Amino acid sequence: MNKLVKYVRNQFPALEKTVNGFPAAFLDGPGGYQVPICVIKAVEDYLVNMNANSGGAFLTSQRTDETLKSARETFADFFNCSYEEVAFGANMTSLSFSLAQALMREMNTGDKVLITQMDHDANRAPWIELQERGIVVEDVAVNVNSCTLDMDDFKSKLSENTKVVACNYAQNAVGTISDIGQIISMAHEMGAVTVVDAVHYVAHGPTDVQEIETDFLICSAYKFFGPHIGILYAKKEALDKLRTMRVRSQKAYPPYMIETGTLNHEGIAGAKAAVEFIADIGSICGNTPEIQQRVNHLEGRRHDIVAGLMVFDDYEHRLMDYLIEGLTGIQEITLYGPPKGHPRTSTVSFTYAGHTAVEVARYLDSKGLFVWDGDFYASTLIDRLGLRDQGGLVRIGIAPYNTKEELSRVIEALKVGVI
Ligand SMILES: Cc1ncc(COP(=O)(O)O)c(C=O)c1O
Repeated sequence: MNKLVKYVRNQFPALEKTVNGFPAAFLDGPGGYQVPICVIKAVEDYLVNMNANSGGAFLTSQRTDETLKSARETFADFFNCSYEEVAFGANMTSLSFSLAQALMREMNTGDKVLITQMDHDANRAPWIELQERGIVVEDVAVNVNSCTLDMDDFKSKLSENTKVVACNYAQNAVGTISDIGQIISMAHEMGAVTVVDAVHYVAHGPTDVQEIETDFLICSAYKFFGPHIGILYAKKEALDKLRTMRVRSQKAYPPYMIETGTLNHEGIAGAKAAVEFIADIGSICGNTPEIQQRVNHLEGRRHDIVAGLMVFDDYEHRLMDYLIEGLTGIQEITLYGPPKGHPRTSTVSFTYAGHTAVEVARYLDSKGLFVWDGDFYASTLIDRLGLRDQGGLVRIGIAPYNTKEELSRVIEALKVGVI
């Protein structure tokens, strides 16, 4: 086991579980990560030392406000934006619905929203709902053979009537990373507002909202070592223009204007610790010449966050190559995902001839190997791939706490055959 993974694993108490005498291997990351001890401690610290509602004159309430502000500043470094552009919510799905409702108020009957067949339903349903109000929703096709977005179809459907383009950064069932910068730039040329679902992407690479120039971007902390909360980046000028749904006493300016009710303070404290965990890895392991060359123009916590994500990405991709090679040799397996060389996350999905996805997942569980099966709410993609009848895909997520040994166990178990 290399030094990085040893250091990382020591911080995750959950990894000590066993199943039928086998050590548990958490290969379910795209559904939610395990959390390091610093996140658990941050949640505990909040609840013990700061627990209060926000905006009061007394000690714990003031500490709560400081924690929220400091979490916004931490996520500002995570996204490369200002802290006033970071809003919190229950999860990505809720934030997405709130945003869609607010954007709808600026649209007229016949205006168009462009979504994609590659998207999780949390980035489709909130827009499809708007059809009831006369908004036209169009779907960009997927290239089924390569699990990539059909950019010609995107270009042909994008028009001056398109008011919103909603698209994922990385696809959560098959790991494809789309050219989000190009999609955003083309959408902006037509005057459309852009909403990026970065839930699957953010754990696998640095996010720079200034570089991609999106108006909105949403992710969830539980997909990268944190508790179950959602985070919205909202370009100040873009959010400022919207009439969000809110109670009258809520602050009517960014970023607070889209936050409803009392936030999950302990979850936010934990999410801040999750980003600090990534930065910690960057400062300890990110001093290789390749990484330094890419981050040496950055400073402070942003430098360490980007370095940390690059350390993880490099490690995960090496494991991914090993897994794909191992699975390719098994006759019953068909892999789904982008072609070699196309940008992707380390999420690897497949079908196994003669067995449904859930049968494979149950078999692997009996050996302590936790993997997801199904459509992962990427329902349209799974339908387009024609995989509904066999229960969708088996999905293996590779997180920084996973090891080559765990992947060897998967490969060996599948070589023997699903029992
Ligand atoms: C790509 C993607 N988008 C959106 C979501 C929904 O996120 P949340 O559970 O925070 O609503 C998920 C969850 O799996 C996802 O993978």
